[in-house]
Amino acid sequence: MQTLATSSPAGFDKPGARRQATVVCLSKLPPFHPAALRLLNLSSESRSAMRDFESVFKSDPALTADLLLVANSPLFANRAQVATIRHALTHLGLERVRSLATTIAIGFFVRNQPRTGHIRNIWSHGIATAWIAEKLGSLSGYSDLYTAGLTHDLGRLGFLLSTGPTYETGIIAEFADIAEANRMEKDLLGLDHCEAGAVVARKWGFPAVLQNCMTYHHENQPGPPARRSKSLALVQIACRMADSLGFPEVRWREQPLPVKLPISLQNRPELALDLLREQISQQIGAMGG
Ligand SMILES: [Fe+2]
Ligand SMILES: [Fe+2]
Repeated sequence: MQTLATSSPAGFDKPGARRQATVVCLSKLPPFHPAALRLLNLSSESRSAMRDFESVFKSDPALTADLLLVANSPLFANRAQVATIRHALTHLGLERVRSLATTIAIGFFVRNQPRTGHIRNIWSHGIATAWIAEKLGSLSGYSDLYTAGLTHDLGRLGFLLSTGPTYETGIIAEFADIAEANRMEKDLLGLDHCEAGAVVARKWGFPAVLQNCMTYHHENQPGPPARRSKSLALVQIACRMADSLGFPEVRWREQPLPVKLPISLQNRPELALDLLREQISQQIGAMGG
């Protein structure tokens, strides 16, 4: 793939030209895994949901094999041996299977990257945010926040896939806060990873709820309804909790302080920090480190 480092147009030193060049590179990203994308855009609540999910897996034996491998990993060791997709859908549930398929699809991109500290951060922070978002969601009446948490920082992966070492040179630093990190991205590439996330989410055809989290997960300003959704607020909390639990989005100059939860989520045993940290480490281990 052409990278930003090799495709700098004349006038590249101007911020507008830099942004334009980066957007062009992001728009040339390879497509997202087709079967995983179809799952992302399927309703899990329609009467035909089970059949629809099953037919996607029937069209992709490789994804099916990977899914069954994960479904039978120690992560789900207390469950019966999962031998078929129908079995996985029944025992794990549609949302869990969808989130596992998305994790596998993102893993394809991650595995093809050099094993740098930042790619490890992207992977572990995504899984940590997903796990916490799912917990927060289930305590707040939202059943499907794992995938929103998992994908919220994919703008960073988009930067790595499209600009290669250029992004690495900037993101290797330590930052005081997210504003400083985002400023570095704007200076280096003309846009930050949230704006990149919007481009990537559109390019890959992600559903609106994921696009929303990828674009606005660092915004605290009141805005249109999409930016004030409860699911976005929970993913924002999960992202900051992942940072403070030791699964940071970038390298912070100082360890982030514990996140103050809304009253409705305080003193919940499911959200005990040591428990979450251990569960997240198990998730990361089961999904390939
Ligand atoms: Fe982020
Ligand atoms: Fe994040």
